Amino acid sequence: MYVFRVKHRRHYKSGKITAFMNSRIPGFYKLSVNERLKKVAEFAKLTDEETKTIFSRGLPLDVADRMIENVIGTFELPLGIATNFLIDGKDYLIPMAIEEPSVVAAASNAARMARESGGFITDYTGSVMIGQIQVTKLTDPNSARFEVLRHRDEIIEKANECDPMLVSLGGGCKDVEARIIDTMMGKMLIVHLVVDVKDAMGANAVNTMCESLAPFIERITGGKVYLRIISNLASYRLARAKAVFAKDVIGGEEVVEGIMLAYAFAAADPYRCATHNKGIMNGISALMIATGNDFRAVEAGAHSYASIGGYRPLTTYEVDGKGNLVGTIEVPMAAGIIGGATKVNPIAKACLKILGVESAEELARVAAALGLAQNFAALRALATEGIQRGHMELHARNLAIMAGAVGEEVDRVVEIMVRDRKIRLDYAKEVLERIR
Ligand code: MEV
Repeated sequence: MYVFRVKHRRHYKSGKITAFMNSRIPGFYKLSVNERLKKVAEFAKLTDEETKTIFSRGLPLDVADRMIENVIGTFELPLGIATNFLIDGKDYLIPMAIEEPSVVAAASNAARMARESGGFITDYTGSVMIGQIQVTKLTDPNSARFEVLRHRDEIIEKANECDPMLVSLGGGCKDVEARIIDTMMGKMLIVHLVVDVKDAMGANAVNTMCESLAPFIERITGGKVYLRIISNLASYRLARAKAVFAKDVIGGEEVVEGIMLAYAFAAADPYRCATHNKGIMNGISALMIATGNDFRAVEAGAHSYASIGGYRPLTTYEVDGKGNLVGTIEVPMAAGIIGGATKVNPIAKACLKILGVESAEELARVAAALGLAQNFAALRALATEGIQRGHMELHARNLAIMAGAVGEEVDRVVEIMVRDRKIRLDYAKEVLERIR
């Protein structure tokens, strides 16, 4: 039986020496759903109620009915757990809600390899979002821009009156920017409220500030305000991660070269780059969905950030002096742990507990590490055997179980079907009969 190894580690932020459970759980995938949930519950110290919520797939209808309009039911996705993640010295089990096979396994596998060189280290620029106020019909836009910047302190003060709670937590509007843009409808002045939203995703706080500031902005500029809305290009809220993938751990020099060539391909070709970045978002969006976050906002942020100066990969790869592969990622991360569905949906709440993050900052750091792991895994698979084998294995597993295989028979039947490249139910039955 697997026994959790409890290690003492210093947490990156608090500096506290804490006992963390180990996220390296060999054979996790071989357990039944029930057994896996039990292990996760032990790891995250879930209550019976929380465990039951996950197991009984419980987003109550009355809660769903309050979340959106015209509700007729709920919609489910598989919820998997990525294991092996060591991020800034702390072990994480990462909940991922996704319909695509192989994604969770690939992330866990990449994390296992990164772990051998100390795992992921991360960085975060702060929970700073931008709210935009569009000022039109200006006769003298430069003078309007001047007036906005001259009233910077007053604008900040008025914005912060909207959210005393956020201000008391150290957040709130911190700066004002003003840009003139040339559009097909003439010149416009775009005012940015730069807001530290702390542990929230931030859309509500920022939108409220923008709306309430609009009359004042009209007064000082003499223009007409139309749009007042957050920007999803969260360029002041960047999460970064880095990991070393040791040459010998990932399959040798040829694999390192294959991954470098794959990266070069993405960096040179937008058709490939879109798929490269999509693979990154396989991980990040699955975590965003599991934690009740607005994954469309994070997707929009990622792709628009990647487009600044020409569409490019969100990750980078280099070979260090020892021939090892060094990967990094830099991605906007407008994700929160309060507000939105994060606390309303009981499954999202339980997922945040499994993840064990204490702030939006920690969630963003984990998301970046997961994105890098997902991308590394995809490139490694693509540069070697291709990704179909992983997909096929899962499909073969399902077929083996449908054919009646139990316990160790499942692995044996899968092995033979994959080896013979015959992933069909009739062949699963035939193999099962043979090995019995
Ligand atoms: C599939 O969902 C994701 C990949 O296409 C990513 C990639 O090509 O890098 C495998």
